[in-house]
Amino acid sequence: PVLVVDFGAQYAQLIARRVREAKVYSEIVPHTATVEQMLAKNPVAIILSGGPSSVYATGAPFVDPALFETGVPVLGICYGFQAMAKALGGEVAQTGLSEYGGTHVEVSRTGALLQGSPTQQTTWMSHGDAVHAAPEGFEVLATSAGSPVAAFEDNARRLYGVQWHPEVRHSPLGQKALENFLYEGAGLSPEWTADNVISDQVDIIRAQVGDARVICGLSGGVDSSVAAALVQKAVGDQLTCVFVDHGLLRAGEAEQVEKDFVDATGVQLKVVDARERFLAALAGVSDPETKRKIIGREFIRVFEDAAREVVEDAGAHGEEVKFLVQGTLYPDVVESGGGEGAANIKSHHNVGGLPDDLQFSLVEPLRTLFKDEVRAVGLELGVPEVIVWRQPFPGPGLGIRIVGEVTAERLEILRAADAIAREELTRAGLDREIWQCPVVLLADVRSVGVQGDGRTYGHPIVLRPVSSEDAMTADWTRLPYDVLSVISTRITNEVKDVNRVVLDVTSKPPGTIEWE
Ligand code: XMP
Repeated sequence: PVLVVDFGAQYAQLIARRVREAKVYSEIVPHTATVEQMLAKNPVAIILSGGPSSVYATGAPFVDPALFETGVPVLGICYGFQAMAKALGGEVAQTGLSEYGGTHVEVSRTGALLQGSPTQQTTWMSHGDAVHAAPEGFEVLATSAGSPVAAFEDNARRLYGVQWHPEVRHSPLGQKALENFLYEGAGLSPEWTADNVISDQVDIIRAQVGDARVICGLSGGVDSSVAAALVQKAVGDQLTCVFVDHGLLRAGEAEQVEKDFVDATGVQLKVVDARERFLAALAGVSDPETKRKIIGREFIRVFEDAAREVVEDAGAHGEEVKFLVQGTLYPDVVESGGGEGAANIKSHHNVGGLPDDLQFSLVEPLRTLFKDEVRAVGLELGVPEVIVWRQPFPGPGLGIRIVGEVTAERLEILRAADAIAREELTRAGLDREIWQCPVVLLADVRSVGVQGDGRTYGHPIVLRPVSSEDAMTADWTRLPYDVLSVISTRITNEVKDVNRVVLDVTSKPPGTIEWE
C-alpha cells in the first residue's frame, strides 16, 4: 500500500481517499509507527500528512530520518513537509507570517512533482512555520509570500514535499500533484479499481470461509447490502441473509430488499416479519432514548432467533454456520484505532453481544473501503441503484422520526409524507446534493388548519434537509423554494391528518440531524 502517516490533523483520511481516487491502494498509519513497522507493510510510497503542531513545539511528532534512507518514495505535506525538511537538515523557521486559506504560489520549476502546473496557482494552506532552506540535494519548486520554500523535490532519491494541502478541493491542482507523486515519483499504476477490489475480496473471503456457512443481517442500507453481495459472489449458496422487517422502514424499502436485491444477487433470504412485535414493544412509549433502546433490544432478539434457526437448519444438514458478515468500513477501522482483527460493531443496528451459543467469526469484506468505493463495488456487482445510492438512514428508522408514541397509523402518515418528499427531491435532481433529509412527524403537536370550509386539527411535518461530509457536522440545505412549495402542497393535500409543513433551518451543532 501507499502509507499515509497521520500526524494528528483531520487530513489523513482525506489524503488516503485522494490516493484511492487516483486508483492506488492506501492505508493510514499513526505517526507513532516506527520505520520498521512501516516497512513491514511493504509500502510502495509514503505520504506524511499535515498536523496541528509546530515542529518546534515540545513533544511535536517526529520523523525518523532513517525513513528517507529506505528508498521508499516519500511525499511530505504541510507539517509532514516541514518535519521532512527538518529531519534532512533543511531550515524551518517561524516567519511570523501565517498563511491560512487560499494562497498564491509561484512555481519556478515543475520538476516531477508539479508537472503540468502553470507558473502561478492558488493553493490552500494552513501553517505558521515555514521552510526557509531546502535540505541538501533538493530543488526548490515553488515559493509563496509566507513560504520561501513552498515545494521541493529530490527526484533522484524520490523525496518530495509541498507546504500546501493538495488533498483539499480548494487546491485545484492538488490531485494532479498527488498523481504526479504516485505515478511519476513512485512509478505506480492506477490499478485499484472496483473490479480488482472484487476479485481480491472474493479470494480472501473464500480462503477465510472455506466450506462453512455464513450468515448476514441485511438492513436495506448500502453497507450490509454490498457486503452480502460480495460474500454471495465468493461463496454463493453458503450464505444466508436475514432481513428483519421491523416495520419502521420507509415506503418501498422492504420490497427493495426482499425483491430487487434478491433478484439482482440471488442471495438466499430469510425474512422475519416482526412488525407487530415492534409495535407492541413500542406501545405507550414516547421518550426518545427509551424508544431507541427498545428498538435495539428487539432487533437483537429477533435476529438471534432467526440466526439460531439458520444454525439449526444447517446443523440438520451436517453443516456449521461459522461466520457473520459485517459491513464495517475503513473509516470505522481507522477511528477505532485501526487494530487488525478488532471487531467493530458499528451501532446497535448491527448485531452486538450475541449469546454464547451464537458465536461467529466476522467476515468484513468492506474493511479496507471508503464509502464511495463501497458504492462503486456495489454498482459493479449489480446491486440495485436505489440501494447503492441510498442516503444514510438511522437503524431505529421511522421510530425516531415520530415525535411521540409510535403507532401503526402514525407510521402510515409519516411514510406517505416521506415518500412525497423523496419523490420530489429526486424529481428535482437533488438526491446527491443532499446528505439526507429526515421527514419528521410531530405527532404530539396539534396544529390548526383550514381545509375546505372547516377548521382542522392536524399535525405538522418537519423537513430536515442537511448537507454534510460525514454527519459529524451539518448545515441545513438551501432547497429551492419551488421544490419546497411542491412538497408542502402535496403533503398537505395528499396526506391525511397533516395540515402544516415546516422547514428545519438549524445547523449541526447545535441541532442533531435527527429530531430524536
Ligand atoms: P444525529 O442525529 O446524531 O445523526 O446528528 C447523525 C447520523 O447518524 C444517523 N443516526 C443513526 N444511525 N442508528 C444508526 O444507525 C442510530 O441510532 C442513529 N441515530 C442517528 C443519522 O441519520 C445521521 O445520519
